[in-house]
Amino acid sequence: MTVRFTWADFEKLSEYIYRKTGIHLDEEKHFKKIEKLLSEKSEELRISSFRQYFTKLRFEDDSGDLFQELANAITVNETYFFRENHQFETLANTVLKEVAARVPKHRPIRILSAPSSTGEEPYSIAIHILEEGSVVAERDIEIVGIDIDSTVINKGKEGLYTPRSVHAIPPNLVEKYFYKKGMYYALSDDIKGAIHLQVANVFDKEQMRKLGKFDIIFSRNMLIYFDEASQKEVAMMFYSMLNPGGFVFLGHAEHMSRIVSVFKPLKFGPTLTYQK
Ligand SMILES: C[S@@+](CC[C@H](N)C(=O)[O-])C[C@H]1O[C@@H](n2cnc3c(N)ncnc32)[C@H](O)[C@@H]1O
Repeated sequence: MTVRFTWADFEKLSEYIYRKTGIHLDEEKHFKKIEKLLSEKSEELRISSFRQYFTKLRFEDDSGDLFQELANAITVNETYFFRENHQFETLANTVLKEVAARVPKHRPIRILSAPSSTGEEPYSIAIHILEEGSVVAERDIEIVGIDIDSTVINKGKEGLYTPRSVHAIPPNLVEKYFYKKGMYYALSDDIKGAIHLQVANVFDKEQMRKLGKFDIIFSRNMLIYFDEASQKEVAMMFYSMLNPGGFVFLGHAEHMSRIVSVFKPLKFGPTLTYQK
């Protein structure tokens, strides 16, 4: 059944989504998508109007499934292995060593990829750390990836990648860490087992608190989708989640110094990092 969806409805939903996720809906990209989602769900949810859907979303979604479905429909998940590779090199060759010298030996060094999308970023971190070799030989390193979109987290756990996704990895490393599975590149179980991927929303304080403290946070290509207030909120959340002396890596179009002034910018070769 077709559910009528107006621009006024779109605005109401946009406002709600923005408050929950920091994401601004784009009229051109999202209107038709959400209109279609509503009509597809009408029978299952027994809804005939946007109003009924919105009530269910706000007050009756105890499992969180409706919100999850909506979140999955609006995110932009573009990513690939070894994207902005100089950052992974700086991490493995310089920053990780500095962090290892500071973090007490009895506890693991913890790295967060927020957002991880389909896993290419945290897996790229793991591959670089393994290739560097010296820190991982002596220390426990935990890598956690989070994303608000459950579809991409499940894909990341599956670990099957297209040729496009692996195109920037040198062939010898593709050979070492992947095997061919039909048209896909399957990640070796060792690497898959080294990463913990889970669904989480960076605006959900409770979910973030449960992740614990980290020494290094990668947050690339998410803040660009947020407005100033939301960027500040997330930047301060990362600040509180970092151990003293910890580092943040952002995407190339994101600049911490324009968001908050609590971090110290530090440049290692071509890579700009931000230290707590
Ligand atoms: C373009 S991808 C970036 C992936 C990777 N960091 C990279 O740079 O290649 C952006 C991701 O941010 C996620 N995202 C958007 N809002 C989020 C939120 N509030 N909490 C967690 N993840 C979010 C989206 O689901 C999407 O997968």
